[in-house]
Amino acid sequence: MRHLIDIMDLSIEELDEMIAVAKDIIADPEKYAHKCAGKKLATLFFEPSTRTRLSFEAAMYELGGNVLGFSEAQSSSAAKGESVADTIRTVGCYADIIAMRHPKEGAPIAGTRRSTVPVINAGDGGHNHPTQTLTDLLTISREKNRLDNLTIGLCGDLKFGRTVHSLINAMSRYPNNKFILISPDELRIPEYLKYETMIKKNLEFVETDDLENAMPELDILYMTRVQRERFFNEQDYLRLKDSYILTPDKLDNAKEDLSILHPLPRVNEISVAVDDDPRARYFEQVLNGKYIRMALILMLLEEAKRNPVPDWQKQ
Ligand code: CP
Repeated sequence: MRHLIDIMDLSIEELDEMIAVAKDIIADPEKYAHKCAGKKLATLFFEPSTRTRLSFEAAMYELGGNVLGFSEAQSSSAAKGESVADTIRTVGCYADIIAMRHPKEGAPIAGTRRSTVPVINAGDGGHNHPTQTLTDLLTISREKNRLDNLTIGLCGDLKFGRTVHSLINAMSRYPNNKFILISPDELRIPEYLKYETMIKKNLEFVETDDLENAMPELDILYMTRVQRERFFNEQDYLRLKDSYILTPDKLDNAKEDLSILHPLPRVNEISVAVDDDPRARYFEQVLNGKYIRMALILMLLEEAKRNPVPDWQKQ
């Protein structure tokens, strides 16, 4: 059974194919309106979400399928101590595909071991968020018409921001991308990512705390929220939370064709005044999330049809 736990589970050919399908859905939604008729998606969200859960649900409805699930752990039997693996095995009796978010790193992979249906990681702790990365790739591809030869500034909480980790991994597979990693010292990218991905793959990157200085170079500015829920100490969060606040004046020396992205939700890190700048693309990014999740659901259900789970394994 094919699942999506980490963006690296997908080959570069599959990424490109999924982006192409998403663009085709945008061009001709009617062609896809009944592709999932009779199919059900379960959304199991043990952690809060607006965009990811609702875009998955909208995606399945727009494919002609149906949706079931829960949006908080307390309303499921997890509150009585049921394991993630048992929850997923149970839900596999009711649904054809599962999208799951969980606060614990690695929970989705643990849940897939006995799953009879495809499982999509919709975010696990501070670890990975592959469908946000698919969203980001589609957005960059639509904005720039390419995924290579770009200078990408990632700004804010690069330590706990799972979307940043997945995006670096994905963009590192396309040639000649340069990364400018803008954060306070305490919120730099994790060492494993720096050494295992960036240094090992010989990527061009710079670590800095100076957004203003980096701005003129950037093709993409990917802002992130400081992740309050991942801090052990509230005082540290309060000290770091407003490290970067993007305001219109800070864009004075940016490129005319800069694209400003943010996985959202935002708190304070992009002033609402920036929303009127044509370079602010984060709400287009939100919409792209629905299309790319439609393409992902189609791909995983197609693979499940080609490789069905034998009946004895379903027991
Ligand atoms: N970008 C994102 O994951 O948003 P939600 O937390 O609202 O799903």
